[in-house]
Amino acid sequence: MTKIRAAITGVAGYLPPYILNNEELSRMVDTTDEWIMTRIGIKERHILKEPGKGSSDMGAEAVKLLLAKTNTLPGDIDLLICPTVTPDHVFPATANIISHKTGITNAFSFDVNAACSGFLYALQIASQFIETGYRKKVIVVGAEKMSSITDYTDRTTCPLFGDAAAAVLLEPTTDEVGVMDAILHSDGVGLTHLHMKAGGSVKPASHDTVDAREHYIYQEGQAVFKWAVSKMADVSVEMMEKHNLTPDNLAWLVPHQANLRIIDATGNRMGLPPEKVMINIQKYGNTTSATIPLCLWELENKLHKGDNLILAAFGGGFTWGSVWLKWAYDPK
Ligand code: UT7
Repeated sequence: MTKIRAAITGVAGYLPPYILNNEELSRMVDTTDEWIMTRIGIKERHILKEPGKGSSDMGAEAVKLLLAKTNTLPGDIDLLICPTVTPDHVFPATANIISHKTGITNAFSFDVNAACSGFLYALQIASQFIETGYRKKVIVVGAEKMSSITDYTDRTTCPLFGDAAAAVLLEPTTDEVGVMDAILHSDGVGLTHLHMKAGGSVKPASHDTVDAREHYIYQEGQAVFKWAVSKMADVSVEMMEKHNLTPDNLAWLVPHQANLRIIDATGNRMGLPPEKVMINIQKYGNTTSATIPLCLWELENKLHKGDNLILAAFGGGFTWGSVWLKWAYDPK
């Protein structure tokens, strides 16, 4: 029997217009452009400034662009998955809100919380729904208003993050393209090193938690860095060895954009030349579950049908993984 796979058939992104650059940041906290560029590799990030707007607003913009670009009617979408750590509300799911805002009325939708690996987790979930034949047109939209959980008095975390959304459309194919394999992992030991202290059921919001600034990202940078460097590289090399992928027959590494040093280390371990590693961290920072689809959106015109891509991520949880994707279409 011919194998059905899930192929990405379109990609779109949305970036809020306000740009927060290192010069402005260095007036907010004790930092410099030189430190941020050397240690992280970020020059600027987009921030959603409009009051009353959240991740779903950016997600809806990305989805609308995706639908228009792929000539897809909202009513034809039958599943929408939103990986996010910055949902509009604890409940209902941001995916439900995005579907409502975009006229997607014939789908079921849900969020996935896997932090920076959220896009890879959601891609694999979407792919399984398609491979079984249960769903035919699926959107995965990473949407993150990281500025809503970033402490702009903490110089160790505030340079890192940005806001954005990016979406892909997945459809069944019997060609030898699409999501070929995924290796996904998690380890709850990550809680200690990367979390938000309050606002969940363990420590609900109170005056005290707000006063103690506990509704922001808490990160032990060095510990997370060590894990990220080894796990993201290990899981990417594992994928290469499993499927005889080599620096020659791989077209691109599309890595999560958390730190240029982590990206470089991963590319080097895979033996890839720099021109095969997608990097846009300097413009957008770490947009959590939106980084990888944002990269695909930027790369789209350079990708050809059959190109081998490895997508790789590491993030809070800890969660990490790699996906081997064969690109499904030529530049339009
Ligand atoms: O996507 C989710 C997963 N997250 C990640 O993958 C992030 C992983 N971690 C990292 O990327 C890095 O650890 C950071 C970028 C967060 C920090 O870089 P680092 O090279 O690990 O710096 P550090 O924490 O070891 O700090 C080095 C020094 C310290 O000063 P002392 O103690 O040596 O005097 C910090 O206080 O740099 C200082 N520092 C800063 N200086 C200027 C920390 N933040 C800043 C800053 N500007 N913004």
